[in-house]
Amino acid sequence: MLLRLLTAALLITAAAAKICRPKASGTKLHEALVNNDVNSIMGDPERNTVRHANQLVYFWPSLSEFEQEVLRDSFTQISRRTCIKFEEQPWQPWYHADRWEPDRPYVIIRKSRQYAAYTDNKLDGDVQRTILYVSQNAFEQNSYNQSRGAVMDQLVRYMGMRKELLRPDAASYIQEHVPRAAPATPRFHPSQLSWPFDPESVTVPLSARKSHYLTEYCPARNDADIGAGQRVGLLTRWDAIKLNSMYCPQLVEADPQRGPCVVPRKKDLKSFKKKLSGYKEQKKR
Ligand SMILES: *[C@@H]1O[C@H](CO)[C@@H](O)[C@H](O)[C@H]1NC(C)=O
Repeated sequence: MLLRLLTAALLITAAAAKICRPKASGTKLHEALVNNDVNSIMGDPERNTVRHANQLVYFWPSLSEFEQEVLRDSFTQISRRTCIKFEEQPWQPWYHADRWEPDRPYVIIRKSRQYAAYTDNKLDGDVQRTILYVSQNAFEQNSYNQSRGAVMDQLVRYMGMRKELLRPDAASYIQEHVPRAAPATPRFHPSQLSWPFDPESVTVPLSARKSHYLTEYCPARNDADIGAGQRVGLLTRWDAIKLNSMYCPQLVEADPQRGPCVVPRKKDLKSFKKKLSGYKEQKKR
């Protein structure tokens, strides 16, 4: 009996706490997991703007040392090549004053068994706070660098990049061995599309080279290069250019005509020329 009373009291308190909580004008968590899934094809229809280049970050206390290390290293790798900064903050509970300063937007990083997703919430008083769920499997790749690559992929997509493979022009450069219906095109930030397609982008799954091949419009890269960024856990030069175009366009200097699909690496020069003459032969026939 006493136990029942206690449970009832607890439930009432919980319900009351729910009502008193500051109202979040952002999407509810459940919806958000669907709408803002970083893998989702739709992305967030309301968010056209880019985030702050400086992200204040709290690690949810349950992240393991290893996971924190992978995240920190991912931050470092991203900031090495872009103007984006992730600044880790010492953990504070939600009621701490730091977490309620209106002009101090922050992101809490948590782990999710299934999803890579985020929720953006604007609380009363304009406290912008975000919860970023990094999917568990990103931390469970075959190697440390691959884990870093998988985490970086989720971070840059949280920052507004979309998967290169879903670009409207991707089919010109890359095809699947077993063709499937083309997935819907998500909303891309115009900055990303103003630069050439990059088969090595950190947003290309590391397994894609098994299922995809490059077309004659991408002779300067090899099929084995597909997904290279994620495999080594680094941004490519073109990933950096695209991110910087969103956050600090004044720093970007590059020639969009000299993209990764048309300018071969020195080591590939010979095979590049051979490929080109091969394609020419095919055309003649
Ligand atoms: C992992 O990445 C780091 C930094 O780029 C590099 O120094 C190291 O050689 C890589 N390790 C492997 C096994 O590739």
